Amino acid sequence: MLAIDQGTTNTKAVLVAADGAVLATGSAPVALSTPQPGWAEQDADDIWQSVLHAISRCLATAAPVDIVGIALSTQRESVVGWNELGKAVGPVIGWQDVRTSAWCSTLPPSVDTLVRERTGLRVDAMFSAPKLHWLLEHAQADHVGTVDSWLIHRLTGCREHLTDAGNASRTLLYDVLDLDWSTSLLEAFDVPRSVLPEVRASNGGFGTTSGVPGLRDGIPIVAVLADSHAAMYGQGCTQAGMIKATYGTGSSVMTPVDSFVADGCTLAWLTDKPLYALEGNIVSSGAALAWTTELLGLPDVGALVELAATVPDAGGVVLVPAFAGLGAPHWDRNARAALTGMSSATTRAHVARACVDAVAHQICDITDTIASSGTTPRRLRADGGATVSDLLMQTQADLLGHPVEAADVAEISALGTAELAWTTLGETTAWATTRTTRLYEPTLAPEPRATRRTHWAEAVAAVRTP
Ligand code: G3P
Repeated sequence: MLAIDQGTTNTKAVLVAADGAVLATGSAPVALSTPQPGWAEQDADDIWQSVLHAISRCLATAAPVDIVGIALSTQRESVVGWNELGKAVGPVIGWQDVRTSAWCSTLPPSVDTLVRERTGLRVDAMFSAPKLHWLLEHAQADHVGTVDSWLIHRLTGCREHLTDAGNASRTLLYDVLDLDWSTSLLEAFDVPRSVLPEVRASNGGFGTTSGVPGLRDGIPIVAVLADSHAAMYGQGCTQAGMIKATYGTGSSVMTPVDSFVADGCTLAWLTDKPLYALEGNIVSSGAALAWTTELLGLPDVGALVELAATVPDAGGVVLVPAFAGLGAPHWDRNARAALTGMSSATTRAHVARACVDAVAHQICDITDTIASSGTTPRRLRADGGATVSDLLMQTQADLLGHPVEAADVAEISALGTAELAWTTLGETTAWATTRTTRLYEPTLAPEPRATRRTHWAEAVAAVRTP
């Protein structure tokens, strides 16, 4: 199975055997530009080229194999428009882009109510619908979609315009109960149904390859998942009571629920039936680590974490990384970042440590919210680039007060989608049960843990808009 994982900063291609073994990998970076404060754009052709580069780098290192199918996972919410010739019109408007924040706040409360009832989400500039509204006002697009749709279109030689239900669920336009685009939501955001892709089950087949350099024609695209959802599948988090956190540019905490809840819920995937999950999205995690790395003049995030580990704690310093506002559970896109609690004894190491703490605190804010709705996570399954840091994982366990189990694989989203694809082709898979993980037990006593959580909560309260 050739699994492709197209993320915000990087595209990976991973060749995965039927038993879950990784046979070869390749990757390629993707550029992100910020032409104005609050804007985040990518080039649709650049994304496509990154997919081709990742595939060719992956296949160059692999022994000759017959690729039986493609499994695709992608960044979510970001939107693309293209014309009848398959040429992108306008930029990809990225999920971090908040250019439509002001417009979102002009929408009547009835739209937010409808969004919550039919999608489980809320009106926010992160999701696709406001971006699509903006795109359609500024570009002549015949077809629009999320990044999965764009890549399916290109992989199939511009023949298919399809998406999976999980990606569709992040648009604010897809009714996750009726499993169809919602006519009322399409009207509310002024997006015609005719420009949108057909929605399929996540393993419902998405056409076959045509004219893709390096690949034979006719390879079926077997499964498509949104990247965070794919990580949940890959972590084997398929039942209520299990919880995972993916540490990426932002972070996503997800836990499956037995039935739809009209707040903070999303459709993780649709196979023979839909699986709903509670989810909290954090806007700035890896982005905060990158920002602090640059601020402190360090070569890379690894050096930042090393510096952070030279002090026992942040010495009272708190970083609230609301560079693009706060996501879940605070949802205040006008909040701005703050670095508080400094004294003349504060060093660069304390600031570095405060950044590591911030990544973990934000996850705790979401697990606290999930716990208050009745699901008490006993163990957090962690994945994503930043989980290589023992310091971050230990800090996470300490602030949570529960063990953290970090997946020892860098390609969990690709593996999750590959697993769904292999299962769809009839293979027996339960890869998460045999995967090696690193376990971090909490070591912090309840009292200092509560104190640190309180300091964090106070700092968050201070940056929130009234
Ligand atoms: O919701 C946005 C998310 O899907 C982006 O994922 O892996 O690019 O940080 P990633």
